[in-house]
Amino acid sequence: KNPVIIFEGIEASGKSTNLDLVAKYLKKKRKKYIKLREPGGSPFSEKIRKILLNKNYNLDYKTDLMLFLASRSENFQKIIKKNYNKRIILLDRFTDSTIAYQHYGMNLNKNLIEKINKLLLGNIKPNLIFLNLVSMKNLSLRLKNRKNKNRYDRFKIKFYKKVQNGFIKISKNKRNYIIVNSNKDINNNKKLVLNNILKLIK
Ligand code: TMP
Repeated sequence: KNPVIIFEGIEASGKSTNLDLVAKYLKKKRKKYIKLREPGGSPFSEKIRKILLNKNYNLDYKTDLMLFLASRSENFQKIIKKNYNKRIILLDRFTDSTIAYQHYGMNLNKNLIEKINKLLLGNIKPNLIFLNLVSMKNLSLRLKNRKNKNRYDRFKIKFYKKVQNGFIKISKNKRNYIIVNSNKDINNNKKLVLNNILKLIK
């Protein structure tokens, strides 16, 4: 069986770097995989992404929630479902981002989000989730250096702190979560990530 592997974390937490590292490794090993991001993935979901992250729109949080879920629905129906079990699926963010940002960050109802996630995905669950953590000091530095800031790069540090603490709560007592501390040595993290991939993929 080919696993579904998720990379989660707040802005500048190194999740996309780790995803690229795994993708490169799988390519070298000639494994079949696909790589997707959320919001985004399918062509229509990429359009939703553009709307969601456009800094000129001042959308209500509930509108955001609906758009993130609509993007997931299309991405799931058009791409994930087809590839499930056939290829390894690498995802830059998934359902826990909605709980962390829209519930822990924006106070929208957790139960409702969980119900819709379940409606969208049925019984499909990720096999492994890397939760990438970053200190607020490093986050501020890394965000300051970003040239093109999108709508979700412009929150106060307090907001990201709430979201990251939310992610940590979600990961508690879950066996399929691996914590990666992105403030630490990059080579050690590389080893940690690839060792866990090796355990899944023989
Ligand atoms: P990215 O910068 O990692 O590509 O993600 C775009 C932003 O979207 C990021 O700030 C997290 C946010 N997001 C949510 O708020 N809820 C979600 O369900 C997803 C998938 C992303």
